[in-house]
Amino acid sequence: MSSITLTNITKNYGSVQVIRDFSEKFNDHEFITLLGPSGCGKTTILRMIAGFERPTAGEIMIDDVVVSSAGNFVPPNLRNIGMVFQSYAVWPHMNVFDNVAYPLKMKHVPRPEITERVMNILEAVHLSPYVQRMPAELSGGQQQRVALGRALVSNPKVLLLDEPLSNLDAKLRESMRFEIKEVQGRFGITVVYVTHDQTEAMAMSDRVIVLDRGEVQQSDTPMNIYRRPENQFVADFVGKINFIGGVSSGGQVEFPGGQKMTYTGGKTGAVVVGVRPENITMRQDGGVLRGKILQQYYLGDVNDCRVDIGGEILRVIAPGNTYGKFSIGGEVWLDFDEYLVFDENH
Ligand SMILES: Nc1ncnc2c1ncn2[C@@H]1O[C@H](COP(=O)(O)OP(=O)(O)OP(=O)(O)O)[C@@H](O)[C@H]1O
Ligand SMILES: [Mg+2]
Repeated sequence: MSSITLTNITKNYGSVQVIRDFSEKFNDHEFITLLGPSGCGKTTILRMIAGFERPTAGEIMIDDVVVSSAGNFVPPNLRNIGMVFQSYAVWPHMNVFDNVAYPLKMKHVPRPEITERVMNILEAVHLSPYVQRMPAELSGGQQQRVALGRALVSNPKVLLLDEPLSNLDAKLRESMRFEIKEVQGRFGITVVYVTHDQTEAMAMSDRVIVLDRGEVQQSDTPMNIYRRPENQFVADFVGKINFIGGVSSGGQVEFPGGQKMTYTGGKTGAVVVGVRPENITMRQDGGVLRGKILQQYYLGDVNDCRVDIGGEILRVIAPGNTYGKFSIGGEVWLDFDEYLVFDENH
């Protein structure tokens, strides 16, 4: 068992409130990602869970133990949490084995047990061939795995990962995603993962919590975050989206250029229609909106277009094989296969 419950957590630095009334329960074995722009408070939340920072108000529990509240504070070394920090730190003067063994030595674990546990962890993070190497002789991804191994070696109940892949190139990031997921499954731990990379969040998480300026915008499955964003911030932060202002009445929305679209929903007044570029189909005729193609870029798998619908320019990402079927400046019809209608100021 290893759940984390945060209740009404607030954090102020001086007069600045960086976390506002954060209440979430992270379940046993859950992979949670905190996602949001730089400065929104992701690291601050991790540091409070780990015990490096005290909340200004609110309570944190790990399982049924209060680790942080007005009258209670359990220090980091007694929380049984593994953490990999934003800028990964492996000790440059220690080889791989000693880096990973360090937390066990601090706890005076007997030598034979240290060897066994370190070798098991090194196998899990695919570093067995590098036991004697110094960090300077390792690639960035291998160093990252040393940090991960060191965080795991004490059998933590909870693993906190703060942008652990940010220093790696795109290919390595992708393969490390799978390795982290594999390690999580193997050790059955609860993971709180921080990133500002939305693809990473989508690929790894059971649940994504989108934050903006210290406040939760949505806490949901990756699919719901993408397909059913609760507001424009979430829709915009996760994936690409076109926003088109319009006026709604009687199940119909009228766009600035005068074109109209019927939809199911009875909003009245100013609205914003959100449509992802890949959810727009281009047709020769017979679609809902008429437009003119301004640009198209052949990117191999997709045809990335800009279409003017009269007063608004939409990005359309069509399959690659549509390239050349529509000519620049020519007429095109658009269908919105999936879209969202937001109240204007939401
Ligand atoms: N020790 C501190 N004193 C004062 N302000 C701080 C302190 N630590 C963080 N902050 C502020 O709190 C806010 C949240 O910081 P935090 O490090 O949690 O952001 P983050 O979401 O992790 O951002 P990034 O993606 O850039 O790492 C920021 O505005 C930051 O400037
Ligand atoms: Mg951070």
